[in-house]
Amino acid sequence: MAPTIVFDVYGTLINTRSVERALGSLVGPKSRVVSELWRQKQLEYSFRRGLMREYRDFSVCTRDALLFACESNGVQLSTLEQEQAMHAYTELEAFDDVKGGLADLLSSKLRLFAFSNGSRTDIDALLRHAMLRESFIDVLSVEEVRSFKPDPLVYEYLVNQCEVPAGDIWLVSSNPFDVIGAANYGLRTVWLRRDPTTIFDPWGVEPDLVVLGLDYIASKIQAAVCNAGER
Ligand code: LAC
Repeated sequence: MAPTIVFDVYGTLINTRSVERALGSLVGPKSRVVSELWRQKQLEYSFRRGLMREYRDFSVCTRDALLFACESNGVQLSTLEQEQAMHAYTELEAFDDVKGGLADLLSSKLRLFAFSNGSRTDIDALLRHAMLRESFIDVLSVEEVRSFKPDPLVYEYLVNQCEVPAGDIWLVSSNPFDVIGAANYGLRTVWLRRDPTTIFDPWGVEPDLVVLGLDYIASKIQAAVCNAGER
């Protein structure tokens, strides 16, 4: 079977910071700090819910985090404004290099999946809005497991869905916790270092590949797949 590449969605394909523009009209000059805390808390809430075994749809983590980020910054949103901010999260933009990078991978005959903390319905709609959905064989969501990354159960689910051994799956993510979680389960990993100032967690687990963008990722993955096959 052709090598399988799995993409994380938020922060990897889709730019969560692109919500800042929509937030600008709702929260004014605090849009950057609010959007950064929003994302940070959204992930923290998913980790905590995973540990507590108190799963809720990822959109609940997103909404609770929005309320926290606004209140922390002394911003009051009306119910309508909260809905507008949540709606903006369903129309986030893709990073500029995504379309070309995915096209290269597809022309290299690699099987592509999307894999996210977001629900299947939400991710499907988000990728359709960004005109990326057709690149993927399927959209896989942690919702089937009722937990969140980096719970090993969600990577187990991913491997079962891809129907190839863990060592034949490459997970591409900008989120170090996702890369470490996937590597811990035995997947091959690519850390997409979207922000060159980001530091990888010093846990003694290294990604198989580090790339700064999705340009040329196809040739790098192909070379790494061939090397891995020879080992
Ligand atoms: C996702 C999170 C990690 O898309 O942002 O799964």
